[in-house]
Amino acid sequence: MAQRSQWGTRSGFIMAAVGSAVGLGNIWRFPYVAYENGGGAFFIPYLFALLTAGIPILIMEFTMGHKYRGSAALSFFRMGGKKAEWLGWWGIFVSFVIATYYAVIIAWAMKYTVYSFNLAWGSDTGAFLFGDVLNLAETPGQAGGFVLGVLFPLLLVWAIAFVILIAGVQRGIELANRIFIPTLVVVFLMVVIRAVTLDGALLGLDAFFKPDLSKLMNPQVWVAAYGHIFFSLSIAFAIMITYSSYLPKKSDITNNAFITGFANSGFELLAGIGVFSALGFMATQANVPVAEVATAGVGLAFVVFPQIINEMPGFNGIFGALFFLSLVLAGLTSLVSICETFIAGVSDKFDISRRRSVVISVGIATLISTLFATRGGLFFLDAADYFINQFGVAAIGLVEVVLIAWAFKKLDVFKKHANAVSDIQIGTWWKVCLGVITPLVLGYMMFGLLKINILKQHTDSDGKIIGNYEGYSDGFIWASGWSVAIFAIVMAIIFTLFKWKKNTHETTDYEND
Ligand code: ALA
Repeated sequence: MAQRSQWGTRSGFIMAAVGSAVGLGNIWRFPYVAYENGGGAFFIPYLFALLTAGIPILIMEFTMGHKYRGSAALSFFRMGGKKAEWLGWWGIFVSFVIATYYAVIIAWAMKYTVYSFNLAWGSDTGAFLFGDVLNLAETPGQAGGFVLGVLFPLLLVWAIAFVILIAGVQRGIELANRIFIPTLVVVFLMVVIRAVTLDGALLGLDAFFKPDLSKLMNPQVWVAAYGHIFFSLSIAFAIMITYSSYLPKKSDITNNAFITGFANSGFELLAGIGVFSALGFMATQANVPVAEVATAGVGLAFVVFPQIINEMPGFNGIFGALFFLSLVLAGLTSLVSICETFIAGVSDKFDISRRRSVVISVGIATLISTLFATRGGLFFLDAADYFINQFGVAAIGLVEVVLIAWAFKKLDVFKKHANAVSDIQIGTWWKVCLGVITPLVLGYMMFGLLKINILKQHTDSDGKIIGNYEGYSDGFIWASGWSVAIFAIVMAIIFTLFKWKKNTHETTDYEND
């Protein structure tokens, strides 16, 4: 049997884990999620979710990967046989779905990096995105043919990911992160420093940090905080188990988890400060309140930012290019980690080489992701992203802690394992967070979330009921939302039913430590 891959150095692992965590979620998603969910008041549920669920789960996943030394599927199998294995595959297939659309957003960012140099988007940046770039279909659900201007950059994104992944854990993933992450930090700091020195920056920061405490009573705000923390920390979808399975025996677990968690949140905060300073600048230029210029998701990065770049007093093109380059760099290091989950899973289960697994699984992911490069791509992406995050990532977070704490009763074993190798010792608080607080809060939230989606009680920003998520039709929600979430579970069951190709019961070196 080939030697299992390992990280070359401790800093290499930390860099890769931070590279995975810091991604589109931090720059693209965090600022508007925080803003929509109460601004400064959002930090209360955010910190609560980070400290009681995010970091404790990160420690748990690092411990699992280190202890069982396998892909998520193999680690869960080693922990509890087939009764647990499916949970590993569920995370892996959720990652697979995320990879297919995540790559598309990186492709857009890549295009916009180039557009920045001559401000190719003109003055109507919305019309440019939805018309010139995406050639968006009129109704959600129509595929309407490929948009070649998106398809080619998408293939380029996949080619880069392929080259990194095929080169292996140490010479591919570790090396890429060693180059990309420090570059990202420098580039992004330049963007933020420029943004906070713009006219009106304080106005934006005021809007961002001013707490709207009334939002704290709204369970949706808490859902948003948990969902965001999981996505942003790359937990509950197989990634961190896979990455930590490449740790050498002598590796600190708890300290590494704290470093990763705080680096990720620090970066996120920086992104919020940068984005809202820029929004404050724009609101000042247009003489309107910040609320009017702050929009969500795609709109924020690809419509509002180009407008801000248009209005900068100087070096517009460079500022734009650096901003979109940060998205590309942050996105690529996360995409690689998302793909590594299924590469490792397939390689373990079917006993094929890593390289072969890269060719097969990245090949299939590339093919499927082209669906998002069609004229209807943005609608598919929006629905898939929402459903896979709520009924994939957040749902796994809940099931994972409940099963590990209560069905398999592994918290004590994991605690002992982590404490044996770590400087910081985890105690009862860690068990209480995972065994009691997270199951209760997350369970209550998931229940509410299911209710909203099944009873079609989504509301718009004024509180008016609009039915399905974003008011989409039932047919579309089934075809692009529920089906995607159900796909991940069904595939997980099918893959669990396959036989392991080799004797995976063999204990590994670290398992009995
Ligand atoms: N953790 C990655 C992100 O934040 C997936 O984008």
